[in-house]
Amino acid sequence: MTQTLLLLPGDGIGPEVIEQTVRVAEKIAPDLALDYGLVGGASYDEHGTPLTDETLARAKAVDAVLMGSVGGPKWDSVARHHRPEAGLLNLRKGMDVYANLRPALCFSALADASALKRHLVEGLDILIVRELVGGVYFGQPKGIETLADGTRRGFDNAEYTTPEIHRITRVAFDIAKGRGNSDRRWGGVCSVEKSNVMDSGQLWKEEVQALYDAELKDMGVPLHHMLADACAMQLVREPKGFDVILADNLFGDMLSDEASMLTGSIGMLPSASLSDAGKPGLYEPVHGSAPDIAGQGKANPCAAILSLEMALRWNLGRSDAADAITQAVSNALDKGARTPDLGGEMSTSQMGDAILAEL
Ligand code: IPM
Ligand code: MG
Repeated sequence: MTQTLLLLPGDGIGPEVIEQTVRVAEKIAPDLALDYGLVGGASYDEHGTPLTDETLARAKAVDAVLMGSVGGPKWDSVARHHRPEAGLLNLRKGMDVYANLRPALCFSALADASALKRHLVEGLDILIVRELVGGVYFGQPKGIETLADGTRRGFDNAEYTTPEIHRITRVAFDIAKGRGNSDRRWGGVCSVEKSNVMDSGQLWKEEVQALYDAELKDMGVPLHHMLADACAMQLVREPKGFDVILADNLFGDMLSDEASMLTGSIGMLPSASLSDAGKPGLYEPVHGSAPDIAGQGKANPCAAILSLEMALRWNLGRSDAADAITQAVSNALDKGARTPDLGGEMSTSQMGDAILAEL
């Protein structure tokens, strides 16, 4: 049966990095059917909405979805619910991709490009499991209102329920079991929250622990709890002490940007957003649309290409092809292939050439 990958290049550098990813896909999985759609500002310009019902329906019907990036100054003055970012959030919510996997892997050739010293990051291989369709990103009520005295009040609601916490916790433990890094200082699963300040954070901690005690303890995967601010600190002090970090939507957003800098460049980091087994996942580079370099051929296509790698592995059942991509990226880096974000001078398509040459 033919497998279909829906490509949503989006805005900014999205189309450039997806173009290189398509070259890799055509070489490594020539039988894969590639379909295209619009999301973000690109969709807003064409249809007046950052995600059409039709695109969402297609995303739910294919085997996997690969997105570039959304957003840019062009749409800054558009109402929030029509902003490019709203298209991405609605896509995540509509596909119910609640488990966002953000690996931070330091390729040894890039250890010196990290903001941290080589010995702290060389060989780094950690994974942030971020809850993606709940929390303060989606909590109601939210809004901006004008008060009687003419000043204004902005508010968002941070909330989580037991089922939301339990399902993401199960994903984190399943993956941690497969990784087998329990011997690390915070090895197994390290769940982070602000239980010292937030009620939703206290519930998070209690529900993770309750599920562990009731069902997960026998897996032999340790559970640690850490406050999110302490985690931000330990990530730069002893990053290799972590294994799987389990975080809510907002803390996972921030900690994954921080973790990206350990690896050399945010231009290297892919992500997978998974729903329940058998449903399509959404794959996207962690970097944004980078409007400052869009259209100049300066973007690093590695994060998008490695996002394809994750799609092949997690949704399409092609782990051999996935392994080949990781190896090709690693080989190209070993041979000195570098885009400007990594301190080199290669263009986006030259980086694509270098990776293709290793496939
Ligand atoms: C990310 C991004 C998004 C988020 C934005 C673009 C809505 O920062 O994927 O990390 O906050 O989730
Ligand atoms: Mg982010």
